[in-house]
Amino acid sequence: MPTTTTSFNHGQWSSRLAFILAASGSAVGLGNIWKFPYMAGENGGGAFVLIYLLCIILLGLPIMMAEVLLGRRGQQSPIRTMQTLAAEAKASRWWVLLGWMGVFTGFLILSYYSVIAGWSLSYVIQSAAGDFVGATQPQIGQLFSDLVASPQRLIIWHSIFMLMTILVVARGVSNGLELAVRYLMPGLVFIILLLIGYAISQGHFWAGMSFLFTPDFSKINTAVVFDAMGQAFFTLSLGMGSIMVYGAYLPKKVSIAKASIAVAGTDTMIALCAGLAIFPIVFANQLEPAQGPGLIFNTLPIAFSHMPGGLFFGTLFFVLLVFAAWTSSISLIEPVVAYMVERFRVTRLFACALCGGFTWLVGLGTVFSFNIWQDYRFAGKTIFDCLDFLTANLMLPLGGFLIAIFVAWVMQDEDVRDEMVMHNAVLYRCWNILLRYFTPLALICIFLRVVGVL
Ligand code: TRP
Repeated sequence: MPTTTTSFNHGQWSSRLAFILAASGSAVGLGNIWKFPYMAGENGGGAFVLIYLLCIILLGLPIMMAEVLLGRRGQQSPIRTMQTLAAEAKASRWWVLLGWMGVFTGFLILSYYSVIAGWSLSYVIQSAAGDFVGATQPQIGQLFSDLVASPQRLIIWHSIFMLMTILVVARGVSNGLELAVRYLMPGLVFIILLLIGYAISQGHFWAGMSFLFTPDFSKINTAVVFDAMGQAFFTLSLGMGSIMVYGAYLPKKVSIAKASIAVAGTDTMIALCAGLAIFPIVFANQLEPAQGPGLIFNTLPIAFSHMPGGLFFGTLFFVLLVFAAWTSSISLIEPVVAYMVERFRVTRLFACALCGGFTWLVGLGTVFSFNIWQDYRFAGKTIFDCLDFLTANLMLPLGGFLIAIFVAWVMQDEDVRDEMVMHNAVLYRCWNILLRYFTPLALICIFLRVVGVL
């Protein structure tokens, strides 16, 4: 019984499972396998993981439920959804800016996301070709430096990845997005389990465990909290409309709370599994956990190059990374594609080509920030660092903050209740209180602390 308030028809997920797969596909990405390990490595392991888990449960999950709820109630792209819902709540028309900000944030994230995903593509080929077999540590470091130093190679891989993304999204919700996640997500889980088995048998598994799960409280400071918060938003795909637009395709009878818990749970499990697959190998080979974005590209091939079955498992690892990135990138471009289709009545292919082309162009900024523009710095940060900081640490939390305010304070309580269909009154109350008071206050405190007021 689709109670849509609109005549637009984007298609729908075929089932609850399809939504969970797609939203988990969006959530599980480079953020889990590339970013989470290197951020944990840079921020002292356990302390970061602890704060990160708290952020997921106390900030991420309530906001995810709110974002899915907005999408399902609005039934359209984030921009139109915000228009419709602001009108329904008799609130200011300016709320539509939340939708626009999301589309803009999505552009920025996808522009660099695609470049890093391109590294992974390149590493699949290099690994399969045996480039890492028997190579020494400096040689492998050199292979990574050579890759990022070459604008041509980066552009080629960035272009291929962008094409892969467009190809899926142009095919639509059921034949594109749903079909892709149906195969890629189980494949991803299978590969990561294999890799953990490998880490247990070949690496220093307990050293990895204790690095990730023994918090050293002296390492907790503002920067760690700020990074953990940004990472929680990034990894759950929150605050820009990906989850909102996926919510718009969610059938009405599905419980938003249960589906969101499944998605956040899957995402967290996969991030922790990625850590458990990576750190034992890092420690077994006396590698450095705190080396930043190059962590998995610089260190893992070294490990794989000297281990039995390394060629196979190394290649598999980078295939995993590509799968994860692919199911995420489609969710970064979907909000704007959905908007163009409903607003201008263009075909999905046209919308994808236009948005993809534009994002590709912006991505060149990231490509060059690793080589010919690496000396262009703003406050010590390269273009890539700036984009990452601006989006993950500022724009996504701001988007999340506004989503919480809109659902908890602006929408009519009966509309929220009606859409949420949560039968357990106590749980509903808990969620509502978290969203109304805790989430906005926590975000404000973290921001004030960062700017040095608190
Ligand atoms: N969550 C994905 C990851 O962990 C990236 C992503 C997809 C994303 N859609 C998003 C991040 C929307 C922020 C907002 O890699």
